[in-house]
Amino acid sequence: MSEHTFLRGPADWWRQAVVYQVYPRSFADANGDGIGDLRGIINKVPYLAELGVDAIWLSPFFPSALADGGYDVDDYRNVDPRIGTLAEFDELVESLHSRGMRIFIDVVPNHSSDRHVWFQEALAAGRGSAARERYIFREGRGDSGEIRPSELISHFGPTAWTRVEDGQWYLHLFTKEQPDFNWDHPEVREDFLHTFKFWSDRGVDGYRIDVAHALVKDMTDPLPERDSYDVSVMKTDGSDRLFDRDEVHNIYASWRQLFNQYDPPRVAVAEAWVPANRRPAYASTNGLGQAFNFDLLVAPWQSQNFRDIIDYNVSEAHSAGSSTTWVLSNHDVIRHVTRYALPDGVDEHEWHRSGGVNPAPNLAVGAARARAATALILALPGSTYLYQGEELGLPEPIVPDEHIQDPQWIRTDGELKSRDGCRVPLPWEATGPSFGFGSGESHLPQPAWFANYAVDVQSDSESSTLNFYRRALRERKRLLTEDTLEWKDSPQGVMHFVRPNGWACITNFTGAPFALPEGDVVLLSSPLVGGKLPVNATAWVLTAS
Ligand code: NOJ
Repeated sequence: MSEHTFLRGPADWWRQAVVYQVYPRSFADANGDGIGDLRGIINKVPYLAELGVDAIWLSPFFPSALADGGYDVDDYRNVDPRIGTLAEFDELVESLHSRGMRIFIDVVPNHSSDRHVWFQEALAAGRGSAARERYIFREGRGDSGEIRPSELISHFGPTAWTRVEDGQWYLHLFTKEQPDFNWDHPEVREDFLHTFKFWSDRGVDGYRIDVAHALVKDMTDPLPERDSYDVSVMKTDGSDRLFDRDEVHNIYASWRQLFNQYDPPRVAVAEAWVPANRRPAYASTNGLGQAFNFDLLVAPWQSQNFRDIIDYNVSEAHSAGSSTTWVLSNHDVIRHVTRYALPDGVDEHEWHRSGGVNPAPNLAVGAARARAATALILALPGSTYLYQGEELGLPEPIVPDEHIQDPQWIRTDGELKSRDGCRVPLPWEATGPSFGFGSGESHLPQPAWFANYAVDVQSDSESSTLNFYRRALRERKRLLTEDTLEWKDSPQGVMHFVRPNGWACITNFTGAPFALPEGDVVLLSSPLVGGKLPVNATAWVLTAS
């Protein structure tokens, strides 16, 4: 595999990698059953190679009843038969590796599904049994235990406790189909090591760790109560009852020992919604190695804001011996074209409840800002996580109520937005029953306007977003250098930084076009206007270093 000389060695491949997230059920459907599958992904490996990404991250593909889009796992060491087989998984790994790309998979250690063999065993074995110890069962309150053990809500609405037939209750921070594991149990710890070994032996290069901050909980009496999951209400000193407890890092230290037995060592990135100053522990070289920084996902389009986030995260990651991550879209949030098309400060849940029309998104502005933001993050030190379909500039479709699958919307009676919009299957062709996704209808309905964004339409157009992404990734590969940056003086609202080799990135957040510095313009997110960089645009300029 080609390695950049500024990396210290092959083990550092992830430090500035571009990772493309594949949501398997919505990427490409090879067998025509409406659900994306591994064969579909294998068929698209040449597309991914042409796009120019360094790795893919596969969201869960394990057997699952899909109570939460596959984040309810029945069996951590298998493939959902609707998605494929282990042999096809091996073929996918081989196909990616042969083209110099790596693969991350998603591991969900906080909870299993309620169909997992251990949970089924726990239900059958009854109260007081050893089998119940692997999960978090408690007695209820009230004369006959009919009141739930505590007033703790779940992420997706009403309560985090569900009662089983014999009267006990179990904890689930997400849906009732996702019982939380008891991470004090040695068998739980053993079993995940076994899972990592299983996939690492099959050639998996890295892991995205779901809800990495929640594994260790203080469930002693009195049980924790909570009516909000906002990061701002979380304790920041490692003593929160539910999240980000210091002890969680002992688990990651044991995983690290296993990861380091491989050559190159397996890598991992934490999905940990914790206060920013708590991220380094997850990203440390004794821990997972990298932690998602989601700061730009919630940042208004404003230069100072962006600059503060960049400064903070680059230096914070370095302090942990890691590199930071940049993310504008993923399977949980509104696609960034639409996010930037809405006025700052809009409540996305309220917007979703309005059917996506109030306020009306300004898609021209959204698309321009989305491309500008993408060019900006691709020029930054650190790794970049792209989400399938963003290379097509897809806006967020609103999925009609009767088709919604997302438990967040279902469990809250529509109070919280559905995340299905960004999970609508990709349009590969402008025609056909599911725009080339498969030969039949897709599992979530695609709007008619998806035709305009199809891969075949965009491939033929030099000015398309797809070709913009291809160019950007090609240039990034060519220009990649040490993971530092230097800020250049610029007027208020213009962001200008330069990498050590003279690779400058200029983004115009102001209301007027801006004259670019001297040098070769190697990338533009929007064409120049009168020789100047238009508003809501980014340019890469190769300047003398
Ligand atoms: C975070 C995942 O990104 C999200 O999709 C899922 O619903 C929760 N974790 C629960 O696993």
